[in-house]
Amino acid sequence: MTDTNADVVRTARLLVRLPTEADRDRFVEPVCDEDFMVFYPGVLTEEEATDRFDHMVAVCQTVPFGKQPLVEQSAGLVVGYTGVDYIDFEGKTWLEWGYRLVPECRGRGYATEAGQALLAKAHQSYAGELLAIIAPENLASQNVCRKLGFTFWKQALVEGDLRNLYSLPVGRSAP
Ligand SMILES: CC(C)(COP(=O)(O)OP(=O)(O)OC[C@H]1O[C@@H](n2cnc3c(N)ncnc32)[C@H](O)[C@@H]1OP(=O)(O)O)[C@@H](O)C(=O)NCCC(=O)NCCS
Repeated sequence: MTDTNADVVRTARLLVRLPTEADRDRFVEPVCDEDFMVFYPGVLTEEEATDRFDHMVAVCQTVPFGKQPLVEQSAGLVVGYTGVDYIDFEGKTWLEWGYRLVPECRGRGYATEAGQALLAKAHQSYAGELLAIIAPENLASQNVCRKLGFTFWKQALVEGDLRNLYSLPVGRSAP
């Protein structure tokens, strides 16, 4: 796959590209690991992880900025994921922006670099509000989300946990 493919976004250090079947093992292993899944309600079982991978592939078939792998160009390895998934909140279905990196690749600005590139796709292909849902104590994630242009909306309970909600208008909804 090359960056002439419209499904691939190249940044200075990363490729952000749609998932393929070859990514399954590299997805399933970390989502069953506590360090990778920090700030998530819990690790997934192998069966849940497999279902989640199928779900990610399905979302990406209809949403070009669905959650997808980040590949570090220097090593050619998947080092995390970013993009949207669907979430129901307060009676409405939203697109929720998220990111998650393997621990050894955190603190290098990858989530922002990949996010800015993938958001360009969102601006071209979608018009509406994106949501980010972040634990108040997750300062790194809130920094990333603000760097991507999201603004604080409110605190609310999401599935029973207090969360900081941020939103970002994209496409024709953007100011
Ligand atoms: C959140 C996450 C994706 C951030 O990605 P990243 O590429 O490592 O982020 P950055 O290197 O740009 O760091 C983000 C900012 O937070 C700061 N930061 C990093 N760790 C921090 C910490 N523990 N406390 C406070 N600030 C922190 C960085 O200094 C940086 O600040 P800056 O914006 O002023 O430069 C990554 O840390 C991660 O995968 N965390 C675990 C999963 C997760 O929390 N996902 C989000 C769930 S909502």
